Amino acid sequence: MEHAQQLAFIDSVFMHLKAPETPDGVTYEIDAKRYTSPEQLTQERKQIFQDFPIAVGAVAQLENNGDYFLHDYTGVPIIVLKGKNGEIRAFINMCRHRGVRLLNEETGHIKRNIVCPYHAWSYDIAGCLKGILHDKGFDGVSEATHSLIELDCSIHFGLVFVVPNPELKGQFDWNVFLEEVYNVYKTFGLDTHVPYKPETRTIQGNWKLLIDSGLEAYHFKIAHSKTIGPYFMDNAGINHENKLHSSIIFPKKSITRTQDKPREDWQLREHANILINIFPNTIILVQPDHAMVMLNFPIDEKSTLAHSFMLIPQAPTTQKENEYWELNRSIFWEAIEEDNELVELQQATFSKYDDKPITIGSFEKLILQFENLIDEVLEEKLKLTDF
Ligand code: FES
Ligand SMILES: [Fe+2]
Repeated sequence: MEHAQQLAFIDSVFMHLKAPETPDGVTYEIDAKRYTSPEQLTQERKQIFQDFPIAVGAVAQLENNGDYFLHDYTGVPIIVLKGKNGEIRAFINMCRHRGVRLLNEETGHIKRNIVCPYHAWSYDIAGCLKGILHDKGFDGVSEATHSLIELDCSIHFGLVFVVPNPELKGQFDWNVFLEEVYNVYKTFGLDTHVPYKPETRTIQGNWKLLIDSGLEAYHFKIAHSKTIGPYFMDNAGINHENKLHSSIIFPKKSITRTQDKPREDWQLREHANILINIFPNTIILVQPDHAMVMLNFPIDEKSTLAHSFMLIPQAPTTQKENEYWELNRSIFWEAIEEDNELVELQQATFSKYDDKPITIGSFEKLILQFENLIDEVLEEKLKLTDF
């Protein structure tokens, strides 16, 4: 992040501490059924998880040309593959002959071609159809017509984003879609970071509850009283006026010490965590020397698969470095498990009783904004092609 921008953010924290934004006092309500409705989830899978860019992994997972990884959590079977010149592309993991799933190993390397196990149609690492067994039987089938179905795919912040619906390829501008994130995020330098300890957890809660849980600091002092709570300012989440992607600065108590230092030495990340929700389901928590990435995918309306990894400057080479990142990882998870347990308690209620709306206060407005955006997408008022 550019230093001028960091200073502006730190100033905004001090302003907030001096004169906390007067909450507008308005209390909102949202329908709890949005967390229990299988019909809503069916709609979300299509209109949100397939019709918007979804982060599917870290770019550093693909080291060499020909390396690939698979991703199935959006509902569309996806291959992310590094081509001959290092370009990263995404395809539907489906043979264009009779639809066989082409690759089954989660990760791997394609030496030359992807060969279908059924009748040996083959595709090169740019997805082009290269070989048809007994091709005389297939009039009109060619590289031009029957190559792998390519998806829109783009690299940002060290992550690979894919739009799983092939119809949307080329139908929007990535930079416009991600503009708000870039405004906050320009140079955290995560593009060159490497993923550390990818893992997958299942949480018994609707995927949106997991996003909601990151969007306010109102709970820090209570829910995290035994872990990170004491290090952070109480109920202080300073958010940017973003319309689509939320970003919040959570200042630590130590930030007040920066006032004793010359301005040119102020470093935001030393004294605050910055949480970014890239709409819809990606959370990046920027910490002093690394970031934590969480990608949340619905399993069903009441459970979520959370795929997460750290992005660290370089792979650890010594025992000491390993221990350092391990320690950071465990501190993070200690707090997140507290959040997740509370999400599970919310879902436990809603599974039995969702007749009354839940209450959202002024400090939790980003939750309202996020949930409203979901509604706008489902009502087709907000589309990827608007960007
Ligand atoms: S299904 Fe792939 S070659 Fe027949
Ligand atoms: Fe939390």
